[in-house]
Formats: sequence, structure tokens, C-alpha cells
Amino acid sequence: MIKSIAASVALASFMVAAPAFAEPNMDKYNRACAACHVSGVAGAPKSHDVAAWETRMAKGMDALVASVKNGLNAMPPTGLCADCSDEEYQELITYMSSAK
Ligand code: HEC
Repeated sequence: MIKSIAASVALASFMVAAPAFAEPNMDKYNRACAACHVSGVAGAPKSHDVAAWETRMAKGMDALVASVKNGLNAMPPTGLCADCSDEEYQELITYMSSAK
């Protein structure tokens, strides 16, 4: 009992210390987006290359989510994440466009 209270206090303080943006679903990131966005396959803006993402972010988050869902040039529809929700796409995009 005491132990579980201590664990939830520790968890709560961890959540307060978390970065300002929501942590994306890293399983989905690694399974899908990372395949192209880590190395910049076929002109994909590289993850954490803030300058490369700046022009993309200027389109607005809704437009970017739509690009992923519909596909864009070498990026296949859904970005290979068929089970990603709109919210997860937003978190993944925020993650990739932010400095590490
Ligand atoms: C098969 C390779 C591939 C995968 C997998 C992939 N992408 Fe991409 N992505 C690209 C390429 C290539 C571009 C650049 C397209 C262009 O502008 O010609 C791109 C561009 C983008 C853009 C910018 C779109 C715009 O309108 O400028 C976003 C946002 C994006 N990807 C998000 C994601 C997310 C989120 C995932 C994972 C769910 C993902 N991508 C998975 C290849 C990929």
C-alpha cells in the first residue's frame, strides 16, 4: 500500500517534468515514420532537423496531417501507419519537427 502510493507520487512528478509537447507513440514512430524520416529517404524532412521542417510547419498542422493521410509524392498514404489517429499524427509531426 505504502509502496504503491510512493509509486504514484513518483509517476506524478515524472509527468510534471515531461517536455512541453506530448510524447508520441514511439512504437508507431519506429515502425512507420522513422523508416524514412530518420535518414531522409527520397527527400523526406529529417527528424529533428528543425530548419527542414520550418517550411512544412508553415502549412499548418491540419494540412500536414492531411498530407500524411493522403500521401505526398514518395510518402505513401498513412505514412505506413494505418492505425494512427489524427492526434497521433500531430504528436509524431510535433516530435519530428522539434529539436532533440
Ligand atoms: C516511405 C517513406 C515515408 C514514411 C514511412 C513516412 N514518410 Fe513522411 N514523408 C516522406 C517523404 C519522401 C516526404 C516529402 C514529400 C515531398 O514533399 O515530396 C515526407 C513528408 C512528410 C511531411 C510533410 C508533408 C507536407 O505537406 O509538407 C509530414 C508531416 C510527414 N512526412 C509525416 C510523416 C509521419 C507522421 C509518418 C509516420 C506516420 C511518415 N511521415 C512516414 C516519406 C515518408
